Amino acid sequence: MAIASRPFRLGVLGSGQGSNFVAIADAITVGAVPAEVALVLSDVAEAGILAHARSRGIPASFLPSGAFRTRLDEKAERAAVAALQATGVDLVVLAGFMRVLKAEFLGTFAGRVINIHPSLLPAFPGRAAWKQALAYGVKVTGCTVHFVDAGVDSGPIIGQRAVPVLAGDSVETLHQRIHAAEHALYPACVAALARGEVTVCGRVVSVAGGGPVVG
Ligand code: GAR
Repeated sequence: MAIASRPFRLGVLGSGQGSNFVAIADAITVGAVPAEVALVLSDVAEAGILAHARSRGIPASFLPSGAFRTRLDEKAERAAVAALQATGVDLVVLAGFMRVLKAEFLGTFAGRVINIHPSLLPAFPGRAAWKQALAYGVKVTGCTVHFVDAGVDSGPIIGQRAVPVLAGDSVETLHQRIHAAEHALYPACVAALARGEVTVCGRVVSVAGGGPVVG
């Protein structure tokens, strides 16, 4: 929900091309998401998400991740927390961010970190979920927006959108359709959070009025 007279502020973390960030930023521009992106951070200096943010005049910084491959080191995590706090973000949006966040980060932004994952969780957590789905032979997969907890892709589910697996699908065609579903689902979930329509009871997340969250 907007805080008094200022808009709901998003801090976006990503490691890749940033198409989900673009979908959210576009939805903000057309008034579909009552929020502003205050800051974009990436652990990859040449990531497309940084270029997209800068081209829109949004503050965007490379965050050197330190010695580890799968997470930020302590110094990097502290720097991320400081930057996000200094910008006063209300919600941390992981958009293709490929590192695990540790307890200190999650504790600082408790209940305010969300992620998008390219499968219908709890199926296929972890990397390249669309490849896992194709290899497993499921007929329906999709994408999930969830709160981030200390596990891997395991937090309470805010919204999901189904994507059929078609005969003859390749890794690329399936990923493309999942991406398209993500671009509808993620802005809808962020909008619901920004409007204060989301309540959490244990693992169960409710969105007022149902909303457009389940695709
Ligand atoms: C998206 O498909 C997102 O679901 C996935 O990375 C891609 C980022 O694309 N995230 C994960 O796999 C996290 N476990 P984008 O950079 O174009 O938004």
